[in-house]
Amino acid sequence: MQIAVFSAQSYDRRFLDEALARRPAFAEVTLHYFTEALSMQSLALAQHCGAVCVFVNDVLDAQVLGALAQQGVRAVLLRCAGYNNVDVAVAVRLGLFVARVPGYSPEAVAEFTLALVLTLNRHTHRAYARVREGNFALDGLLGSNLHGKTVGLIGLGKIGMAAARIFHGFGCRVLGHDPAPPDAFGAVGEAVALAELLAGSDIVSLHCPLLPATHHLIGAAALAQMKPGAMLVNTSRGGLLDTPAVIEALKSRRLGALAIDVYEQESELFFHDHSADIISDDVFQRLLTFPNVLVTGHQGFFTEEALREIAETTLDNLDCYMQGAACPNLCLPA
Ligand code: NAI
Repeated sequence: MQIAVFSAQSYDRRFLDEALARRPAFAEVTLHYFTEALSMQSLALAQHCGAVCVFVNDVLDAQVLGALAQQGVRAVLLRCAGYNNVDVAVAVRLGLFVARVPGYSPEAVAEFTLALVLTLNRHTHRAYARVREGNFALDGLLGSNLHGKTVGLIGLGKIGMAAARIFHGFGCRVLGHDPAPPDAFGAVGEAVALAELLAGSDIVSLHCPLLPATHHLIGAAALAQMKPGAMLVNTSRGGLLDTPAVIEALKSRRLGALAIDVYEQESELFFHDHSADIISDDVFQRLLTFPNVLVTGHQGFFTEEALREIAETTLDNLDCYMQGAACPNLCLPA
């Protein structure tokens, strides 16, 4: 079985190779690593492969899926939880096996959310730079306690629940909004309607998937409902935010702070070194000018534990495909 691994970084290679070496039964499996993202331009790299292994910014729309199927690809193995980049309905029509890694380490993303909140709240990103320049003045670094604040979590799945437990441990009041809130949430927070969450939260954090119904969930209307001066955090998917509307809310000081680990146009930028390039995305560049905005390049998932789990589950999914066994991680059309 030949598998083309797209958007492969050195760490993907390391963890997948290690997982493969732990499975003697997979002696016939060969992983071919390509740094290129999957697209119409790059899909020829998967010639002679029975499966492709992809990540968050690979494009698997109807055209790419059709061409892959024609080329002989029968399986798509996602190394991520979200699958908004795959037209699953088309894949199912083409008879393709599509599986993801639904819950590799919710704590990785939840803990990273906390890192962003605490950094912005206590200005440690600015303190770090100041101290290195010999500036030990505290002016401008005044923060506030997290203890006693109200945190609103949109999406109470695996990551939202992990975040809820952590914020609860910090002594926060936790509000949550989800079409199907899990019973366990009652032990750490209160399930409320979206409007109530937006109006009552000092910090709003997004943990729901990107779907047609959640595209630009936070736009001008939602921002106007938020508490003046509140913090907004998005570690989920860039398309949940209407970024120009968020910039307007920052300029008007209505929004107090913003942390994003994801960005709607991130496929042009993230996971690559652009430090010597001219970045032509003016919306993204505007975000970087605000002192109260923290941007990271989709690293919420990036822990040893999560990468090990992603590699193992990806190979478990492959095993299901090769054995024709029922796979618990199949992607289903929305
Ligand atoms: P999950 O599937 O366990 O939970 C998602 C939750 O969102 C479900 O409870 C669902 O009912 C809820 N939901 C659906 N529509 C909603 C809506 N309109 N409003 C509120 N809630 C809604 O997913 P999990 O593992 O918790 O991941 C959440 C998201 O985090 C993923 O979809 C992915 O986009 C993102 N993610 C980001 C990573 C990063 O590195 N920054 C890594 C992994 C996931």
